[in-house]
Amino acid sequence: MQPILQNGQSQLIYLNNAATTWPKPPEVLQEVTECLRFPLHEPGRTTGNGSMDYPSAARESLAAFFHAGPPENIVFTQNATDSLNLLIHGFAKKTGTLFHAITTELEHNSVLRPLTALKQDGAVMLSVVPFHNSLVSLADIKKAICPETRLVVMTHGSNVLGSVQDIRPIAEYLHANDIFFIADGAQTAGHIPVDLADIPAGAFVFTGHKALFGIPGIGGFSIREPDAIAITRQGGTGTDSRTLTQPSMMPERFETGTHNYPGIASLFAGVRFINTISLSEIERKGKELANRFIRELKRTPGITLYNDAPDLPVVPFNIAGIDNHEAGFILARAYNIIMRTGLHCAPLVHERIDEGTGCIRASFSYFNTQEQIDTAITAIREVAQSADR
Ligand SMILES: Cc1ncc(COP(=O)(O)O)c(C=O)c1O
Repeated sequence: MQPILQNGQSQLIYLNNAATTWPKPPEVLQEVTECLRFPLHEPGRTTGNGSMDYPSAARESLAAFFHAGPPENIVFTQNATDSLNLLIHGFAKKTGTLFHAITTELEHNSVLRPLTALKQDGAVMLSVVPFHNSLVSLADIKKAICPETRLVVMTHGSNVLGSVQDIRPIAEYLHANDIFFIADGAQTAGHIPVDLADIPAGAFVFTGHKALFGIPGIGGFSIREPDAIAITRQGGTGTDSRTLTQPSMMPERFETGTHNYPGIASLFAGVRFINTISLSEIERKGKELANRFIRELKRTPGITLYNDAPDLPVVPFNIAGIDNHEAGFILARAYNIIMRTGLHCAPLVHERIDEGTGCIRASFSYFNTQEQIDTAITAIREVAQSADR
């Protein structure tokens, strides 16, 4: 069913997929229902009667999807933010003394805020590496490294600029120099191939509700060296229950309490959907839609584009003479076109590209069509024409 917006039209054009994908594939919704039809099969706790062991199945399919190590090194969390908090604070606790960490201007607040909190607590000295032409270079990271550097946290794909960072050489260099590397794959997982057999990152973070097509409330990470991260959460695991300390084995080391079974089922089905369509086809379609949108925006007077060659289907822009929030409001209310406006939780990017005022971001998924792009362009042109330039 299409939602009915204020003007009574029902044809919603949803171009906010970098925030969360919509719609979800029908098979994802079916799997969530299927998961809740039977009593839960909780591995180590209850044997399901007819229900599937979703955590184990999803762990295996995610490990295969990312070419990651053993499935038990895939850890489920609430989302990318939860993963980054667990990893960053767990790393600081394990290190135990003041250390130097490096991050970049491209980061989302889910990286910047935990690191800033540690800095304010006096646990971390922090360097923020700049980006040039929407990319961060290994040379700039090397320049920031000092003898006390123990951690680098960096986005794989920018949620504002749509650029994908070449993290393989960065991961290799940091691995060789014994610096733990956390890659934030919230924007890349499900859009482009991620081969963790080839990228020696200490941990790679993903979220379920974006391009992996799961529902909100599920995410996780893949970890190479679990011992680098201290345990910061304790509780029931269904294993080793006589012991009053948290088991150190994986994944119980980091997963505690009852899982988000519907979320895990949705992620399992989302990955299966991607494999059925094929990641290369999803990537091709995203690029085709983004290129069409960019080509037409370039032909529209009054448009500032902040990256006209994004690697991800994410297009940041502004319309001259109208505030981005107001433009987004008009597009939503008058045209039923949903895009994200503002700072996109990545404030340092905006200081560089738009003096901190924010921008409009169109982001596409496999379910968008060329007709939707054309309708959105017509609407943007009308807004641009009526703007007070
Ligand atoms: C680059 C990046 N990192 C982290 C996050 C946080 O993801 P979540 O909302 O799933 O925690 C986002 C969400 O927009 C993001 O774009």
